[in-house]
Amino acid sequence: MEDFSFQNKTAIRFGKNRIDEELHDAVAQFGHNVLLTYGGGSIKKSGLYGRVMAALSDLNVVELSGIAPNPKVTSIRAGQKLAKEHVIDVILSVGGGSVLDAAKVIASAKFYEGDPWNLIGVAGTKRRHQLAQLPVVDILTLAATGSEMNNGSVISNAQLNMKLDSFGPQTPAVSFLDPQLTYSVSKWQTAAGSFDIFSHLAEQYFDRATANDVTSGIIEGMMRAIIKWAPIAVQEPDNYDARANLMWGATMALNDFASLGNANDWTVHPIEHELSAYYDITHGVGLGILTPRWMKRVLSTETQARFARYGREVWHLTGDHDQLVAQAAIQATYDWIKSLEIPMTLPGVHINDDTNFVRMAQNAVRVGRLDHNDGYVNLTVDDVVAIFGA
Ligand code: NZQ
Ligand code: ZN
Repeated sequence: MEDFSFQNKTAIRFGKNRIDEELHDAVAQFGHNVLLTYGGGSIKKSGLYGRVMAALSDLNVVELSGIAPNPKVTSIRAGQKLAKEHVIDVILSVGGGSVLDAAKVIASAKFYEGDPWNLIGVAGTKRRHQLAQLPVVDILTLAATGSEMNNGSVISNAQLNMKLDSFGPQTPAVSFLDPQLTYSVSKWQTAAGSFDIFSHLAEQYFDRATANDVTSGIIEGMMRAIIKWAPIAVQEPDNYDARANLMWGATMALNDFASLGNANDWTVHPIEHELSAYYDITHGVGLGILTPRWMKRVLSTETQARFARYGREVWHLTGDHDQLVAQAAIQATYDWIKSLEIPMTLPGVHINDDTNFVRMAQNAVRVGRLDHNDGYVNLTVDDVVAIFGA
């Protein structure tokens, strides 16, 4: 187990209909000028927008709508302008991870004089840590990213074909997690979100730290929960228990808790971010396509014991032969993802040519430092091209 520090200041308000009573004060504690951010309109269809506006009727609410999946820097620029012009005190973000990721960067951009694209990537993260950050309150409507309890954002620049991380100094101040608000999430987004959760757990599980049994056991338990409840949520969208387990699972999978004592960074996410950057595909679907391929690629005599433990603890596989159990675990992972109706090929998400594979692989290796011991197993550009083409 490696050394670690852990602190998380997000106040979680989990459960049914809490916004009606609690949202006003959760927001107003930070001031009267509110920037309300949301996406393409799902919150209007579901009636949530009306409930939010009723709760905030005595505050000055300025709106930024239209934040797209794989949120674009253009939305951040628009938010920066509004936050400055209206002397915003607090951002209320209502939606999925994309809306929330954008809100967190706008919260920094209010205090920045330049173009907010400078706040993205490694240098951008450094800059953000020297800036103040507005408090962000959120109402989550899609279980997936964990953005509701972490300091990360992933922002795209369509002109540059780039999609990069950015980390701010603060996690959201208050997150309202009402599983009922996810009943209207489509099958496609439910499957994608569920696999995103699973991928976050897998990225943290396949780690070079040894004897890290507390964290490993926590992850195995969460993986079993996601495997159990995701297909139920896909089939029965208004199953409260399924939605509740996915929502809390998403939050717990990526609030740093599941990586305490770990040694290395992630691999599949930087590779997927290239797919989303070039082809604007759904993040969780990209991960679903890539993860079993990555698992096959890195299974070796060195890693087979870890994969066999994964098979026994997560998939209830039996047998003494580590290599066979490991292979069966990878197959079980593939079958489960497919059962969620995620297309398992790139043509399935309308990527029909390999023109960009080498450039994308070069970017993924550089950004993720995949050949520099930053991942579980080092990967070269050729490895990543092979994963795309598998
Ligand atoms: O825009 P609206 O109309 O709200 O519709 C959204 C959007 O079209 C819809 N939706 C959300 N809640 C709904 C709903 N539809 C019906 N009912 C509801 N209750 O779902 C679509 C997708 O929303 P989005 O926010 O894009 O999904 P998600 O939460 O999966 O976020 C994905 C983004 O987060 C990034 C991804 O790369 C991607 O850009 N990530 C952020 C992370 C973080 N901050 O820590 C980590 C992740 O690994 C990930 O990279
Ligand atoms: Zn993810």
